Amino acid sequence: MFPSAPAPAPAPALALLALLALPGGGLAGPAPGQLNANVGNLPVLKKMQIVGGMAADIKEFGHQVSWLRAGRHMCGGSIISPEYIISAAHCCVELNLTISEIVAGSTIIPNRGRGQVVQIAEVHAHPDFEPLSYSNDIAVLKVAPPFKFDETVRPIAVMDTNITLHTGDPVYVTGWGKLSEFSSTAASILQKVKVQMKDFETCKQRYGEIPMVLTDTTFCAAADGKDACQGDSGGPLIYKTPEKDYLLGIVSSGKGCAVKEFPGLYTDLRNEKMRNFVTKVTGMKL
Ligand SMILES: *[C@@H]1O[C@H](CO)[C@@H](O)[C@H](O)[C@H]1NC(C)=O
Ligand SMILES: *[C@@H]1O[C@H](CO)[C@@H](O)[C@H](O)[C@H]1NC(C)=O
Repeated sequence: MFPSAPAPAPAPALALLALLALPGGGLAGPAPGQLNANVGNLPVLKKMQIVGGMAADIKEFGHQVSWLRAGRHMCGGSIISPEYIISAAHCCVELNLTISEIVAGSTIIPNRGRGQVVQIAEVHAHPDFEPLSYSNDIAVLKVAPPFKFDETVRPIAVMDTNITLHTGDPVYVTGWGKLSEFSSTAASILQKVKVQMKDFETCKQRYGEIPMVLTDTTFCAAADGKDACQGDSGGPLIYKTPEKDYLLGIVSSGKGCAVKEFPGLYTDLRNEKMRNFVTKVTGMKL
């Protein structure tokens, strides 16, 4: 989302996508080779936020984490194993691991002692992340120490590709996005919002007018007649079945929620290239 650019004029969205190279040595933390060199080409943009959601309990979304930067919520993420989180490549902008932390198991952020706090040991942003189209907007983070799973901290299964989704199917987005827009001292409660899968071709056509060329690593979702549309960047979009929840998408991008014909954009975890990347980094078979 580009919440600071609600104007319907066609130019603003892309103006916010201007590239900014990281200052030399901007990546601190892991040994050389663990970080992807492409991280230096990521764009600067406003973080996406939940609008019009409702309060949620972390027990219902135990996979949800907050990625803090200097104690402030910066991005969301999803736990897929004791050691790995899925987030967005564009969250790796101006990464500084010495001031980054991952918080799991806390409904409230900043956590002030609640939940589990772990460090980021490795960052793998997808090498093909494309800042103009937001294609391949995925990052896998390795954390240390590993999470201890309990009723508030647990992994989520990556989407089962055998399940067929249809336009209009309900999906859920969660996050603390509002916090990034306001005071760092104000605590924020996890928000959830129900949105619907949107027809990709229609969505792609709309974005083509900006112009922004969507690719098949992206899908579109939004809520009809509401301005609720997004969770915070890097966070989960999940698909619920009676048996279990699945991580279907990563909150990625989009043009202002208020602009009805522009749904939110999510990295598609049904996409083979995205799945192969997760498998390559984590060794997990999806
Ligand atoms: C990362 O953050 C630390 C602590 O604030 C700071 O000392 C260091 O200069 C930062 N590194 C970069 C490259 O900005
Ligand atoms: C998907 O379907 C195939 C073929 O029916 C089956 O072998 C496989 O186990 C299914 N995968 C999952 C994750 O259920």
